[in-house]
Amino acid sequence: MAPRILVIDDEEKMCWALDRALSYENYQVVTATRGLQGIELAKKNDFSLVILDLKMPDMDGIEVLTEIKKINPSLPVIMITAHGTIDTAIEAMKIGATDYITKPFKLDEIKLQIKKSLHLSNLENQVDFLRQELGKKYGKMVGQSDAMKEVAFLIQQVAKTGATVLITGESGTGKEVVAVEIHKASNRVDKPFVAVNCAALPEQLLESELFGHEKGAFTGATSKKKGRFEIADTGTIFLDEIGEMPISMQAKLLRVLQERCFERVGGTETIDVDVRVIATTNLDLANAISHGTFREDLYYRLNVMRISMPPLRSRKEDIPLLVNHFLKKFDPSNSKKISSVAMKILTSYNWPGNIRELQNAIERALIVCQGAEIKPEHFPKDLLNSLEETTTPVLNIAEGGFSLEEMEKHLIIKALEKHNYNQTKVAKYLGISRPTLLYRLKKYGI
Ligand SMILES: Nc1ncnc2c1ncn2[C@@H]1O[C@H](COP(=O)(O)OP(=O)(O)OP(=O)(O)O)[C@@H](O)[C@H]1O
Ligand SMILES: [Mg+2]
Repeated sequence: MAPRILVIDDEEKMCWALDRALSYENYQVVTATRGLQGIELAKKNDFSLVILDLKMPDMDGIEVLTEIKKINPSLPVIMITAHGTIDTAIEAMKIGATDYITKPFKLDEIKLQIKKSLHLSNLENQVDFLRQELGKKYGKMVGQSDAMKEVAFLIQQVAKTGATVLITGESGTGKEVVAVEIHKASNRVDKPFVAVNCAALPEQLLESELFGHEKGAFTGATSKKKGRFEIADTGTIFLDEIGEMPISMQAKLLRVLQERCFERVGGTETIDVDVRVIATTNLDLANAISHGTFREDLYYRLNVMRISMPPLRSRKEDIPLLVNHFLKKFDPSNSKKISSVAMKILTSYNWPGNIRELQNAIERALIVCQGAEIKPEHFPKDLLNSLEETTTPVLNIAEGGFSLEEMEKHLIIKALEKHNYNQTKVAKYLGISRPTLLYRLKKYGI
């Protein structure tokens, strides 16, 4: 749809000229020769941009601007000023006008300004949208165990300080979730949250990714590029998997942490930034320091505030909460329930991949399960196998009261898979006769 532009100017000739010129550019134009009329139009219609005369007889342009900003704070407004009223135009910019143009102007000039303002406002809308998506992507942090309550408390404590935070913990424990929570609880919440995965890029690329580069800094640097630190200015930079950062880059990072400034690759200008740093690692950094792969001085710079994420196996009471959270997430219509045996298996398992592994297991089970109930056979083989290797948890499950029949069915299915559905082998493996096996298969509808 063509962008709609509202022109408010008491001079009919100006309205007419702009209407003609902008319609020709395929904008939809609506004009008003009175301030109040313009405000009414802005209330009732959805405009993409307003062109507003600063000096009008019925109502001062500044007043009109103030009202329009009340109706829609993100609507871009370009002010038209006469020579000698530039001070007022600057005042208008402070109230929220996007730009101003001085009379007399060429039509090409204002067309260019409109284009720029629309582009900017498009970008702003996209940023808003992405920010909402970011919120949705991470969702809320689930967990009622003491360990997770402690984490939630620490997040609130460190968020307000602006201090550097190091988040440690095994893979999949929610380090990234915590980093986002800290940003959201901080006073930088409306500023950028910029993530960099330090393990994903080779050294050269990582440097230009973090600090940017000048045109011609290296082959392929065909234009100047801002680095993540510059983009994150006034916001938060999230350095994911910092333990994997090449040692020579660590020295450069240390300087930014100490002095809050750097140069672009191939550049001489020193750039100052105001960024909050949050880093994560799933490596034992003390160990990395003793092996000479991580700088001790950088470690102390990062380790100002520390949050250690507990592995899921150490807070099994959170598992049912998480399971229900993920069921709701992946099955919003709530069409499938989880059987109590299946839930017991999930709480018995050790989850080496932590919450990510649990989340994947639930997502997969919902896809695999055709009926209305999620059962053990809907879980990945690895998960069930590891339960069998460590027989104790299975026994615990039995004690915890799931029926022997269900257990038997589960074991038969496992044995069938293991022996490629060869009934003779399965019977032998289970220590029962073949007719008994056939009877059981029929009984359980396998
Ligand atoms: N407390 C929680 N509540 C709900 N979902 C969570 C929680 N913690 C983590 N998750 C989800 O689990 C997944 C893994 O979390 P995240 O990426 O933060 O882990 P990580 O510690 O950064 O892992 P890695 O070290 O592998 O990068 C994500 O999809 C995240 O949304
Ligand atoms: Mg991560």
